[in-house]
Amino acid sequence: MNILGIESSCDETAAAVVRDGRYILSNVIATQIPFHEAYKGVVPEIASRKHTEWILPVVKQALDEAGLTMDGIDGIAAVSRPGLMGSLLVGLTFAKTLAWAAGKPFIAVNHMLGHLYAAHLEERDSPATRIPEYPYLGLLVSGGHSIICRVSDFDDIEVLGATIDDAAGEAFDKVAKFYNLGYPGGVVIDRLAKNGDPRAASFPMPSLHKGKNTGDGDVHRGDTHRYDVSYSGLKTAAINQLDQFWNPEYERTPENLAAAFQETAVKILVSRLLRAAEDTGLTTIVAGGGVAANSRLRAMLAEHRELNCIFPPLRLCTDNGAMIAGVGFRHLERGDTSPWTETASARVTSFKRGLSRKNR
Ligand code: KG4
Ligand code: ZN
Repeated sequence: MNILGIESSCDETAAAVVRDGRYILSNVIATQIPFHEAYKGVVPEIASRKHTEWILPVVKQALDEAGLTMDGIDGIAAVSRPGLMGSLLVGLTFAKTLAWAAGKPFIAVNHMLGHLYAAHLEERDSPATRIPEYPYLGLLVSGGHSIICRVSDFDDIEVLGATIDDAAGEAFDKVAKFYNLGYPGGVVIDRLAKNGDPRAASFPMPSLHKGKNTGDGDVHRGDTHRYDVSYSGLKTAAINQLDQFWNPEYERTPENLAAAFQETAVKILVSRLLRAAEDTGLTTIVAGGGVAANSRLRAMLAEHRELNCIFPPLRLCTDNGAMIAGVGFRHLERGDTSPWTETASARVTSFKRGLSRKNR
């Protein structure tokens, strides 16, 4: 079964064709980065206008590169949540219209489920060496979310921990913006950090941990923040209190700042993940979302030989249509389609802690 997946939740106009929820036949990503760069952040109005301009040629290219016409497509999936309202509406309306006109099933897909599914995909030129098996621990880290979860199926996710303030990606972006390091922040900090020394500053780790796990299988009892993360403290320390945390033996270069900030940002995620792995007994960790592209995060987790950490290829960490097509296939094989009345939503309430079962 071939699914056309459309992604337009933020600043990438993307479309892909995926066969049987696994094999990527095409994956076209038109990035709007140059149009938002001057503002050091995504401008929602510019984003939706670019999506409107680009969606048709991007979808056409995805079909061409897959060597298919609409006759060869068995369903059309598009992101409906979460994301920027105007951006979501462009892709969603386009997908519904195309599905209706071509007489194909339409499937609305949750963007976060897409990020988690990226590691289940195989690229033509670099086949995946390890496809994850359920259950596993999910690490979902993007510009808007930082989630540690127990994943039992592609849409069966129990959120164990999340950020209590800023998302990890948001912290990278804000620090990079404040110091004028470049855009997008995560990519730039990752690059600069390679030539810096993480010991240049000693930023504090957030202390959210109160009480401890009861060991009776209920991982939340007696400890509400055991797997939660926080980034506003690190962000404030890096932006407003640098003098206090800087090690005077080191030169204050963008490279050193990037390395020290990144080291703490990654440590925060890894420390919570290790707790979750120990408490749940799950040893496979699957990462997804833009921050999963971070080289230090990958290296720090790789040091834990007791864990089987699976990262999607870099191109599949950030927003793409293939992950949406993959999730769309999983819904469709169960016979789940979405109504023409399906609409977009900026937020996704089901990704609150512990509440989510069969997320959509
Ligand atoms: O998943 P994504 O493409 O879009 C959202 O759904 O938000 O994630 C974008 C986020 C941005 O905050 C960006 O700075 C961050 O992912 N990011 C990175 C890296 N590449 C992208 N953060 C750290 N290291 C990277 N290499
Ligand atoms: Zn995303």
